Amino acid sequence: MDRFVFFGGKGGVGKTTVASAYGVQSARDGLETLLVSTDPAHSTADVFGQPFDDDPTPVEGYDGLSAMELDPEAEVDRHMRDIKAAMSDQVSPAIVNEIDRQIELAHRTPGAYEAALFDRFIDVMRESDDYDRVVFDTSPTGGTLRLLALPDLLQSWVDRLREKRRESVDLFEKAAIGDSDPRTTMTGDPIVQRLTERKETFEFAGRVLAEQAQFFLVLNPDDLSIAESRRALDDLEDADLSVGGLVVNKVAPAPEAGERGTGATYLRERHRAEQARLDRIHAEFDRPVVAVLEQRAGVDGTDLLAALVDELDLGTPVDPSPT
Ligand SMILES: Nc1ncnc2c1ncn2[C@@H]1O[C@H](COP(=O)(O)OP(=O)(O)OP(=O)(O)O)[C@@H](O)[C@H]1O
Ligand SMILES: [Mg+2]
Repeated sequence: MDRFVFFGGKGGVGKTTVASAYGVQSARDGLETLLVSTDPAHSTADVFGQPFDDDPTPVEGYDGLSAMELDPEAEVDRHMRDIKAAMSDQVSPAIVNEIDRQIELAHRTPGAYEAALFDRFIDVMRESDDYDRVVFDTSPTGGTLRLLALPDLLQSWVDRLREKRRESVDLFEKAAIGDSDPRTTMTGDPIVQRLTERKETFEFAGRVLAEQAQFFLVLNPDDLSIAESRRALDDLEDADLSVGGLVVNKVAPAPEAGERGTGATYLRERHRAEQARLDRIHAEFDRPVVAVLEQRAGVDGTDLLAALVDELDLGTPVDPSPT
């Protein structure tokens, strides 16, 4: 069973809405489910008509469903504080201010934003023993997925650092104690410890994402969203992660055959163009289209959720597989 399910896709395609519908289905199928949202706009709160914060809270009216909302800005700040604190123990006081400035600059890039959230996702995955399924309403992409290759790199840093430290301990002790045997190990080195922790964190994430996670891409039948999904799919496949399929959302319904007038003409034309794009999606992506959801008019929040829960059928297998 996939314990961790991610819904990726371009801004506004419907990730939060679809992830929420999927979360409701999972809970309905008897899985203790946690929905994790990253929307600064509190969309999950809108979907369920209930506020959430960064602690899991039961969703009213849905047995077995809890939700939490992570605030990306707060995660970036927290990430920055952690790194500053770790660095200030390890560098001389004279350069702490300069290092702090560099860390702040590095955290103003979009990649840092995503990386900070990814760190938090890893914490959530680590602390999710109470849940059979955790649904994320966004998915790591490009640069963040490349962090999964970091353990090998970090291991070689750790090894080299250990070797350098050993050499300098040797020299230091030789100078201090003449001919007696020098110590050959360094214990409690804060830099080695930090690198080793980071290595283990990304190792854990890589293992869990490869063995227990499923990714779905949400897209709309428009060219930009299709292009973005193509990139996201390539990134996920490069990282050897399992993409369950594509959810095409906000597809225009067709007007009745006899309908005439400007509105019907517009809708007919739009429907025709979107169906052509849907055909292209079927033909060009090597992953299946697992759901096609219509654009609903005049509904949002809880009503939209109710409509989509019945329409979405991605399956929520309940048979636990050995982990
Ligand atoms: N099938 C649908 N029919 C009608 N409206 C929809 C549908 N799916 C989503 N919406 C609406 O589209 C808007 C964007 O949806 P949602 O917030 O789920 O997208 P998102 O991909 O999570 O956005 P973001 O990238 O900003 O987080 C919302 O107002 C939502 O109610
Ligand atoms: Mg969203």
